[in-house]
Amino acid sequence: MNRLRSSPEAPVCRLRDVRRDEIGEVAEIWRSGTLEVHPLHSQRADPGHWRRGVERWLVPRCELIVAVAAERVLGFAALVEDEDYLDQLYVRKSAWSRGVGSALLAEAQRRRPDGLELHVLAHNQRALRFYRRHRFRVVGWGFSRDEHLPDLELRWRADDGPGVAECESPGTPRSPPPWTTRKSSTRSPRR
Ligand SMILES: CC(C)(COP(=O)(O)OP(=O)(O)OC[C@H]1O[C@@H](n2cnc3c(N)ncnc32)[C@H](O)[C@@H]1OP(=O)(O)O)[C@@H](O)C(=O)NCCC(=O)NCCS
Repeated sequence: MNRLRSSPEAPVCRLRDVRRDEIGEVAEIWRSGTLEVHPLHSQRADPGHWRRGVERWLVPRCELIVAVAAERVLGFAALVEDEDYLDQLYVRKSAWSRGVGSALLAEAQRRRPDGLELHVLAHNQRALRFYRRHRFRVVGWGFSRDEHLPDLELRWRADDGPGVAECESPGTPRSPPPWTTRKSSTRSPRR
């Protein structure tokens, strides 16, 4: 179990694998965090949809890491088992900008030391800034499966080095280039 102090004011967070009784909190963080990024259709606004998503989609195929403080889940990262793919990274909004996302990402990088890939919606500027700081680079673009919104494929390689860095802005694509392909896999580009 890893411990960190994310800032002098912030509580000590612990990073560990999710417990069964935390599934509801993870689902709510996932749902409300998604709502911060884009509106949800009525079916997907239902909290039960997200709980089932955690139970049937994330838990069986991912290492589900939670950041916990005072017995409360502050955020989670879902790392696809046996793949260098970060499927989801969400932090409770009230805990944003305290280093919780960075801590979860660092734990994912520790578990996948060679490199990591992920997808992010192109309009999600906060997340893009966050990942660029952590040395992720844009390596592809396309459309998300669920929302059919432009999304970007990001990659970090250990060769790129650890730590925080500014990289070039990827900009927002107007249309996907013809060479765009997405690997067929169990990934869920929902962000
Ligand atoms: C993107 C996301 C995971 C970042 O989580 P976070 O916990 O806020 O991340 P951090 O606190 O580590 O870093 C974010 C910002 O806080 C700043 N920060 C980090 N630690 C800090 C501290 N101790 N004091 C002040 N600021 C700090 C960082 O510099 C960064 O600044 P920036 O937004 O200007 O780039 C979070 O905003 C989120 O859940 N968003 C909604 C879901 C989402 O978009 N997920 C990613 C989809 S791929």
